[in-house]
Amino acid sequence: MKPWLGDEEAQALAEVVASGWVAQGPKVKAFESDFSAAQEVRHAVATSSCTTALHLALIVAGIGPGDDVVVPSLSFIATANAVTYVGARPVFCDVDPVTGNVTAETIHAALTLDTRAVIVVDQGGVPVDLDPIRELCDRHEITVIEDAACGVGSQYKGRPVGTGADVSVWSFHPRKILTTGEGGMLTTNRADWAARARTLREHSMSVSATDRHGSLLAPPEVYLEIGFNYRMTDLQAAVGIVQLRRLAEIVERRREIAAAYVAGLAGLKGLRFVADPPYGTSNFQSFWVEVLPGFPVSREELLARLADAGISARRGIMAAHRQPAYRWRDTGNAGLQHTERLTDRTLILPVFHELDTVSMNRVMNTIHAAANGVGR
Ligand SMILES: Cc1ncc(COP(=O)(O)O)c(C=O)c1O
Repeated sequence: MKPWLGDEEAQALAEVVASGWVAQGPKVKAFESDFSAAQEVRHAVATSSCTTALHLALIVAGIGPGDDVVVPSLSFIATANAVTYVGARPVFCDVDPVTGNVTAETIHAALTLDTRAVIVVDQGGVPVDLDPIRELCDRHEITVIEDAACGVGSQYKGRPVGTGADVSVWSFHPRKILTTGEGGMLTTNRADWAARARTLREHSMSVSATDRHGSLLAPPEVYLEIGFNYRMTDLQAAVGIVQLRRLAEIVERRREIAAAYVAGLAGLKGLRFVADPPYGTSNFQSFWVEVLPGFPVSREELLARLADAGISARRGIMAAHRQPAYRWRDTGNAGLQHTERLTDRTLILPVFHELDTVSMNRVMNTIHAAANGVGR
């Protein structure tokens, strides 16, 4: 991945620098307003990262010690960590073997009497099938949190992902579709949750820093509860505003690249490619390939051959339950066989806006050589 940044972002940054207002201020407000409009949700609260947005999402949802939260193990570890931050227990569930996402069935298998929330993930940009999950969770009065860190620009049944959850979170890390360097967002249709997240992100001050620093005689502030410094800066938001305007173009290009990979590699036996599910479209934040037992070389060998050719591919999504941070904890006992298979067998190919045909062909030629038994 390489972020797609240009003169417009540099100009937007220069303007913020010249203004002197570099911490959270009017640009963050404008970015929140643009983002909520683009994502078709009522409220957006910018944060320092998706991880901090997830932490706030769990707090506003009232999750704490004694609660269980069902999460996929097949996700970046931040998904599970946020649950641990609030003193609740992450209970790992399996994923669908085709999409790599949680489903109503895999969540159902992991429910306990203490389950108060689930975190669903649009893994690698593939939209999660939310409606059946919503139905299950509504029946059991379980809050649905959507970790859409990878999901901006993906659609579920014709609408942006994230709109059907109680609260959703987004990442603007450079590995994601839009970047602000680091940064995140929390979105929700609930005004009370948005308001609490907004104050929690800045120390739970009753007067926002923008209002305080913008007034000659600042009103006295009250600290309502123990909060955090999870603010985004105006420097980041100015870049985010420009990036968001490019979203459609970025997604279109990624989908073009994914289609070119599929067309170029389609004839090879033993490979399976991530694809749009029947109910939505992916932004192809990650174009992953599953190396099946019928392929002549293993996933590790294919990664090594790509590296030999100067191509930086990556192992597929991690499985949090295997990491030392979680291995010895009680995280439930739902079966995780699809998670283990996908994490062991998948790899992620290079996709970035400016990836050219020559480079793409080099990737595909290397894979063809491995498929045809041409040695290292
Ligand atoms: C699914 C998921 N959740 C959360 C995060 C954390 O995002 P951030 O780096 O913005 O905190 C990531 C980042 O890789 C992710 O992929």
